[in-house]
Amino acid sequence: MPGALPFCELHLHIEGTFEPETIFALAAEQGRTLPYDGPAELAARYEFANLPSFLELYYENMGVLRSERDFEALAGAYFARAHRAGVAHVELFVDPQAHTARGVAERTVLAGLHRAIEAAGERFGISAGIIACVLRDRPVDEAERMLDAVLEAAAGTGAPLLGLGLDSAELGFPPHRFARVFERAADAGLHRVAHAGEEGPADYVREALDVLGAERIDHGIRVLDDPALVERLARERIPLTVCPLSNVRLRVVDRIEELPFRELLDAGLLVTVNSDDPAYFGGYLDDNLAALRSAFGLDEAELAGLARNSIEASFASAARKAELLARLR
Ligand code: ADE
Ligand code: ZN
Repeated sequence: MPGALPFCELHLHIEGTFEPETIFALAAEQGRTLPYDGPAELAARYEFANLPSFLELYYENMGVLRSERDFEALAGAYFARAHRAGVAHVELFVDPQAHTARGVAERTVLAGLHRAIEAAGERFGISAGIIACVLRDRPVDEAERMLDAVLEAAAGTGAPLLGLGLDSAELGFPPHRFARVFERAADAGLHRVAHAGEEGPADYVREALDVLGAERIDHGIRVLDDPALVERLARERIPLTVCPLSNVRLRVVDRIEELPFRELLDAGLLVTVNSDDPAYFGGYLDDNLAALRSAFGLDEAELAGLARNSIEASFASAARKAELLARLR
């Protein structure tokens, strides 16, 4: 049972946990009508041709997130579901620029997430931190302003800001545009991660490492196109946060069996399993593990190995890592 193993979820967009029912409930509270008859009609649109076609709906739906309480409720619902999936530690992504675009301040977003994180610790014993992501298809100066604002909001609210990430439409938006903002993030003591090699080429992974100083690569499944890069990732123990159901729903592969999951493991890579945008892609972490299990026949020892990888790949404190590793034995 995956639920018994202490997994760390390291690639999870909190806005991607926004379930259709909750979107409708929040819209109703605000007296807003949505252009769909109900949650079922909205969910029926979750057939995506590629990453950009998903992002369009993802950004549109988050328009009903307005108040600190909305962000607290969103993350609170995710933590309750993640607890049932066996998740012990979460490093959640948030897209501040997608919220400031409609006048919701970084401080509102971080304060709401912080309250949910505290409650998740008390109720479920889940530890968690926040990774603010740069929208790579937006201007560089906007990313610079976002970094300043989240640093200030974290200092002001006490929200556990762990790092800076890079997400949104990948093709045509190479990592190097954001070299300066990632350098400033490192100077501010933040960890650095980046989506790369999802739809984009293995070269973007190399750039994320060399130019942004990324400590983990989100997705990264295209690295297999570049054997020298694979060898480097394995040698330097740079984790890949793989999201199987996402790759199927965004048509990176047609069927889960086509994912090079065994090849990534056999290459000695530090592979972790994650849910990306579970409300959109058909499942949370336990569903992703179950899908992998049936597609690739993973056994108990391999599942425990994936839990161990997730602990090693996390930015949790040494004490928290030791605690989680002890639960594996
Ligand atoms: N934002 C939310 N989900 C994403 C994904 N899978 N890739 C890039 N940006 C995202
Ligand atoms: Zn992602």
